[in-house]
Amino acid sequence: MKLIEAADYADMSRQAARMIIEQVKEKPTAVLGLATGSTVLGVYRELAADHRQHGTSYRLVRTVNLDEYVGLGPDHPNSYRHYMNHHLFAQLDIPLHETHVPDGLAADLGEECRRYEQLIDALGGIDLQLLGIGRNGHIGFNEPGTPFSSTTHVVELAASTREANARFFPSLDDVPHYAITMGIATILRSRRIVLLASGEEKAAALARLFEGIVSPELPASALHLHPDVTIIADQKALSLI
Ligand code: GLP
Repeated sequence: MKLIEAADYADMSRQAARMIIEQVKEKPTAVLGLATGSTVLGVYRELAADHRQHGTSYRLVRTVNLDEYVGLGPDHPNSYRHYMNHHLFAQLDIPLHETHVPDGLAADLGEECRRYEQLIDALGGIDLQLLGIGRNGHIGFNEPGTPFSSTTHVVELAASTREANARFFPSLDDVPHYAITMGIATILRSRRIVLLASGEEKAAALARLFEGIVSPELPASALHLHPDVTIIADQKALSLI
């Protein structure tokens, strides 16, 4: 596991964007695994700015997102599909049909999970997976206790995760109770993983991660089992290390 210490949020975002841009330049047909949340917003702003200023093209890139809330469709302002379209895809030249997010409205959620796994394989696997980290150490929506062997599945969100994400919704009651998420095994199949962490509220999770204990109680600790992980964290996120 490689650690890059960033000065602050802007520096972390620039360094992560640089890695993605290099990946796309090296392999124009790259499959990018993408995440949502506040942490990665700066990266998406950097990618959009670079596309405008330097013309980096995403015409042949394919993307797969980590997760989606059950019950929220593309038109819902809090769905991750809506977030991705708004914050990233509309800012790039990527064809929308080459971007994939689990379908939170699927009638058969089990079938949707199987379809998503097959889709990732059919795309040839993920070249670079971008990750944030939850305060309890979750990655994607893989909450503590999720087996490392898990593939894409439906999960009941932890109360702390719903509370943390309530800031995006009108009220806590509006936060869905369930989500579809790539599993830990799905994430570990990516060829390269870049995890970002910013701010004091992530410091405890990062400190536990760097203790080095590998346990489903800290989902992010599964990354110790992967050969190519880069963590880019700012000073505040590293304050307990
Ligand atoms: C959410 C997402 C995760 C994200 C995490 C951190 O629950 N499902 O993919 O990494 O929370 O979010 P934030 O970056 O907003 O702190």
